[in-house]
Amino acid sequence: MKNFLILLVLGTLSFGSPSPAQQVEPNYEESGVPDYSLPDPLRFEAGGQVNHVEDWLERRKELVTLFEKHVYGKSPDWDGELHAETLFENPNFLAGKASRKGVRLHLKRNGREVFFDLLLFYPNTGQPVPAFLGLNFYGNHTLASDAQVPVTEAWIRNNEAMGSSGNRASEAGRGKRIPNWPYEAIISRGYGLVSLYYGEVDPDFDDGFRNGVHALYPEERRNEASWGSIAGWAWGLSRVMDFLESESWIQPEKVAVLGHSRLGKAALWAGAVDTRFALVISNNSGCGGAALSRRKYGETVARINRSFPHWFAANFNQYNENEAALPIDQHQLLALMAPRPVYVASGVEDRWADPRGEFLSCVAASPVYALFGLQGMPVTAQPPVDEPEMGHIGYHVRSGGHGLLPYDWEQYLDFADMHF
Ligand code: GCU
Repeated sequence: MKNFLILLVLGTLSFGSPSPAQQVEPNYEESGVPDYSLPDPLRFEAGGQVNHVEDWLERRKELVTLFEKHVYGKSPDWDGELHAETLFENPNFLAGKASRKGVRLHLKRNGREVFFDLLLFYPNTGQPVPAFLGLNFYGNHTLASDAQVPVTEAWIRNNEAMGSSGNRASEAGRGKRIPNWPYEAIISRGYGLVSLYYGEVDPDFDDGFRNGVHALYPEERRNEASWGSIAGWAWGLSRVMDFLESESWIQPEKVAVLGHSRLGKAALWAGAVDTRFALVISNNSGCGGAALSRRKYGETVARINRSFPHWFAANFNQYNENEAALPIDQHQLLALMAPRPVYVASGVEDRWADPRGEFLSCVAASPVYALFGLQGMPVTAQPPVDEPEMGHIGYHVRSGGHGLLPYDWEQYLDFADMHF
């Protein structure tokens, strides 16, 4: 018994002084958040206050350049040709209430071509409608219960190297993601929905720029500030927008871009660089998305760079365990949406994405909305679970964990109704 107690005490002691492996456990305690001060969105790098909307437009350019250089990398200006091919069309979807169609977007540049397939749903109102646009994780067929929507072959085109990277599309997934993309509810509220598989835009693995949209720009070698996959996904969303501008069923000036998790990071970056997106929604985007990097809560800059080296510009590595040196933080990314509305949503159990850091980011972006005479985040204390707050910045922390759920969509629809 005595020996047992000694062992127990020793065991406790060894927990008290963590081994190196234990020291790198993510921090999930508020008391473990370091002291930090955030860079001011309304202060020029050279000093000098942003006092007017005209100043902000200059400051905005400065911030975009900083995010390009230090975080996401700079995407090329599109100088190729876009061609849309209709794959299938069903004007009698949902017993005639809606239309559904499949469109393949071909992007050609200097003899090279990539394509990605869009799945479009819209109400048969006879009038152009506002719409949501978002990348999906597992393929368009996961948003369809019938066989008309084919399983993507991006895996085959992009070779087996993707095999190890997860999120492989397969027939087994057909219809499985409809709860995450509740098109019936979206349509009945008078909105369209456009979705596409992110792996067709840029496969989610470190391929040295050979596949996806990167392949259109072979002269853009991987360097410290070149575009990573998040920027590639965002760039693809802009090409979809190019196409949507020519569609008669949609109001292109009322397109909300939305994404979950890594695709929430991509939606935010798309909204930052392309102001045609009239409303921007980040669902559980976390580190490198809506959450403040300086809090080092849950996923950190070092962790994300080590796990996903292809997502960001290589320069972002300079800030591993060195967040205070970042010239920007993610509240300034949210501020880049101003005066357009932006919504940030967290899941209370999704601590990896730092729900509180996402909320504080909304608060810290609000002075830029105030410059436009608009209310950003209406409150400064994090709202209780399942109690959304909506100004020109919207926020909720819902019960449950990581995911894009019908509850989230209800808030996005309300927020879109409020602003469109
Ligand atoms: C990982 C990653 C997150 C990301 C998430 C996702 O958890 O660490 O940064 O948001 O995957 O995309 O689901």
